[in-house]
Amino acid sequence: MPVSVLVGLQWGDEGKGKIVDLLSRRMDWVARYSGGPNAGHTVQVDDETFVLHLIPSGILRPGVRCVIGHGVVVDLDYLAGEIRLLEQRGVEVEGRLYLSSAAHILFPYHRWLEELQGQDVRVGTTKRGIGPAYQDKMARTGIRLHELFDPRRLRERLDAELARVEMLHKAYGKPMPEPRAAAVASWTRRYSEIGARLRPHIVDTVDLLNAAIDRGDRVLCEGSQGTFLDVDLGSYPFVTSASTTAGGAATGLGIAPARLGNVIGISKGYTTRVGNGPFPSEFPAGFGDPFRKRAGEFGATTGRPRRCGWCDLVMLREAVRVNGAKEIHLTKLDILTGIPKLKVAVEYRIGRRKLFYPPVDAQEWSECRPVYADLPGWREAIDGVRDWTALPGATRRYAAKIGEWAGAPVRLVSVGSGREAIVRAPR
Ligand code: GDP
Ligand code: IMO
Ligand code: MG
Repeated sequence: MPVSVLVGLQWGDEGKGKIVDLLSRRMDWVARYSGGPNAGHTVQVDDETFVLHLIPSGILRPGVRCVIGHGVVVDLDYLAGEIRLLEQRGVEVEGRLYLSSAAHILFPYHRWLEELQGQDVRVGTTKRGIGPAYQDKMARTGIRLHELFDPRRLRERLDAELARVEMLHKAYGKPMPEPRAAAVASWTRRYSEIGARLRPHIVDTVDLLNAAIDRGDRVLCEGSQGTFLDVDLGSYPFVTSASTTAGGAATGLGIAPARLGNVIGISKGYTTRVGNGPFPSEFPAGFGDPFRKRAGEFGATTGRPRRCGWCDLVMLREAVRVNGAKEIHLTKLDILTGIPKLKVAVEYRIGRRKLFYPPVDAQEWSECRPVYADLPGWREAIDGVRDWTALPGATRRYAAKIGEWAGAPVRLVSVGSGREAIVRAPR
């Protein structure tokens, strides 16, 4: 049984949470492989809305077991809060959630450093400390979950890290938000306690998942963020600090690439991005502002307004290529109802050059002008439609064209935020 990977094909917020929830009906395991509490995955179950930041969306399907892999950076306060919140809302977490003992811990000082170094303003980050946490991981100074269980060792590690953090604050001429000694003492206590509580959940997840795959269990890898926020393949430096693309599932979970099959790409029927960086198909404010309001495009993590624009096939083509997406699930098509003419960017122009894939340089990318193809819109409400043949012809054509031009067929369209609001395309 090949492992499925679900990946965002744009700049995040494609509706991954909703589709993971749908697919996890047929899964034994759902595993997050990258990112941290910067993610915000929304799942609407009847009248209840859940927004998950660290725990895989599969947790909302009883019987599914969930893994937070070593590719994720774990903010223990967030995690403890998320577990508590889920349990308060009647979702059982105990015995269903496993954390990689090799996952790096995101500490409050990572948020301090992000602000100190101005990363948050330059990139427009979620201010969750993601960049500095991955910096420490790559610099080989990070503290991992397995180090939580020995308070003396944890205190030494925190003290050494905070000495460095203190030096950096001095160099920037800024005071430490909390004195070093006090922070070391209180964090050693707090995180040892959380560690002790989570201990039964913290295991070797490489072993766990590979044994499950060997047994024939069905595993879904839940991507966070999107292809163009990938630190290598995205619109660098306007990216996150992790490997968000399908390859990240192999390294972030320890599942061999050959075992990954069935990569499912998620895209909205239009494009959004939160934060700074290039966005050639962005709507002008006069159209974008009312659109955002109607579409409810405000960040699930930070509440920031999302920038909105037309569907960009130059991006989707690249995303299908680098992820090896075999199919696309297209979300939020209901939002496009009533727009008489839908534009889709089919190529870029920069000077006299034509580009079919985004350029490497973000500055060049921001200078690209999209060349649009027009597709007819539809006026009928589609949020109640559940059958492909009941969709307006123009909706079907729009979905089919996107698949054709992006290089992978659209197999499913989403027409509302609820669990049941999906329409499967015929094969
Ligand atoms: P994720 O980060 O990829 O999981 O996406 P988010 O949860 O951040 O943002 C997607 C938003 O769109 C959420 O509020 C979803 O409830 C909502 N959503 C998902 N699919 C649809 C859809 O087909 N139609 C509408 N109207 N909303 C949708
Ligand atoms: P989900 O999983 C949308 C964006 C931030 C910023 C950049 C870097 O819900 O799709 P970071 O805090 O990661 O250092 O910020 O990445 N970003 C997201 N945008 N959805 C997300 O996650 C995002 N996670 C990070 O807005 O531009
Ligand atoms: Mg989101």
